[in-house]
Order: sequence, then C-alpha cells, then structure tokens
Amino acid sequence: MQTLQEQLNVIKEKVQKCTNCSLCKNRTKIVFSDGCETAPIMFIGEAPGKNEDETGIPFIGRAGQLLRKYMFECGFEANDFYIANTVKCRPPENRKPTKEEKSACFDFLNSQIELINPKYIILVGATALESFILDRKLSITKARGQIFEIGNRKFIPIFHPSYLLRYFNEYEGSPRDLFRKDLLMIKSLIKEV
Ligand code: URA
Repeated sequence: MQTLQEQLNVIKEKVQKCTNCSLCKNRTKIVFSDGCETAPIMFIGEAPGKNEDETGIPFIGRAGQLLRKYMFECGFEANDFYIANTVKCRPPENRKPTKEEKSACFDFLNSQIELINPKYIILVGATALESFILDRKLSITKARGQIFEIGNRKFIPIFHPSYLLRYFNEYEGSPRDLFRKDLLMIKSLIKEV
C-alpha cells in the first residue's frame, strides 16, 4: 500500500513527462504543489508565472508573496493548507490558461484533490472559479466569500492576489479588506474542523 506522499509523487512524475498541451514546450519546471498533504484546505490558483516556472513552487512571486503575507497575518499555519493551480506549466507572457489547457491538466488536479481530500477548496480568482463553478453569470466579485457545495466538495472563491496589487488601501469594503475578511472566515471554519 502506497503512502499519500508516494501516491502524489506518482502523479507528479506523470506531470513531469506530460505533453498533453503546448504549455509543456516552454516550461522550465512543472509547478505541482506546495504545502501540507493532510491540510484541511486546498488553494487553487490560476497558473504559474515566471518565478513559479523557475522554482517549481506555486505562489512564490509578487502575488504569491502577498497571498502568503495575508494568510499568515490571518493566523494560517503551514499545516493548514496545500496549494496548486489550474495548470502546472506557465502560459506564455503570463496570459490566462485556455479552456483546452485547463482541461488537459484537469485530471492531474482532480487526482490531487481526491488524494488531499480537503474540507474546503479555495478558488483563488476568476480562472479557478470558472474551472469548478460553471455558472457563466457568476463573477468573482459576487462569488467571493460564499461557500458553494458541489457534489461532495465545498468551494470558497476569493479574489486573486494579483488584483490586490492594484489596490493599496484597506478601507472598509476595499478589495484588500474583503480579501482579509474572507481569509479570516476560512481560518475560523478550519478551526471548527
Ligand atoms: N502564482 C501561482 O502559482 N498561481 C497564480 O495564480 C498566480 C501566481
């Protein structure tokens, strides 16, 4: 019987050899995951950027550092979360991954979700939201901070931290204020788990 870590490594090795879409052509490293495999929450972001492609670690660039700063300010600990993206290779010029690219990568992401079996999946930004909640009228602004139950999974969309890079203030109701409130709500939910 394989351990959880071994099972995840099997998927990671498949991703390393993956040529399912053209994003494989320009990748330096695949960006598989970061964090704790037994965490109660799993963050799913959009796609690796330049820093992620170079290091193989998700959310390590400017936007990622902002996400991590807010998470730790809101009391998240290393064991609380696991992080992945809708695609494992960097799209050129940091464009959004296409539907086809996300589909080509979906089985890998889905296998990670099944193995991690998180209590809550945090959809970071509109691209992740659109991958899991198929309501085209639902914007990230409307969806953020709500809990969506789909099948046996609970999803909570939040703003993407790259959006916050454009808004510095934290007045009541600002993107940063709402982002912090959502993270505090998520942290309080996992305290109950
Ligand atoms: N870094 C990631 O790994 N994912 C994003 O969505 C943004 C930055």
